[in-house]
Amino acid sequence: MAIEKTYTMIKPDGVRNGHIGEIVNRFERAGLTIERMELTNVTEQQARSNYAEHEGKPFYDGLISYILSGPVVKMVVSGEGAVKKVRTLMGATNPADAAPGTIRGDFGLVMDENVIHGSDSPESAEREIGVFFG
Ligand code: RTP
Ligand code: MG
Repeated sequence: MAIEKTYTMIKPDGVRNGHIGEIVNRFERAGLTIERMELTNVTEQQARSNYAEHEGKPFYDGLISYILSGPVVKMVVSGEGAVKKVRTLMGATNPADAAPGTIRGDFGLVMDENVIHGSDSPESAEREIGVFFG
């Protein structure tokens, strides 16, 4: 493995429910470095670009309106194997399946509002950092 960067974003429900500090703390405790961080609203163009792979699926429109429903915290996080590490800390996509101790397992309830996003590969990370931080 090597030092890599990943894109991660606390979704509107995570911000609304007051989990910013806990999530940042978990990243730092795991040895990851917060390189950039901003509380902001996602633009529709950024949302559609981030989730382009899901266009046309039944949940796509709901996913876009949910991501636009309130502020998010967007971050660039770095460290050894950071892409996989963040995904491990996040837990399974469906909070009902996510293990206790993971972010989605501890703070999520439903698939449609699952607290956090993280890039799924180094290639996605590079693309998403470009989308959200220019
Ligand atoms: P994310 O991209 O947000 O980090 O989530 P992920 O990789 O774990 O999951 P992904 O397959 O990329 O799906 C993106 C988001 O779409 C919603 N989803 N709903 N109803 C469904 O079958 C379904 N599948 C996916 C989830 O909110 C997921 O986070
Ligand atoms: Mg994904």
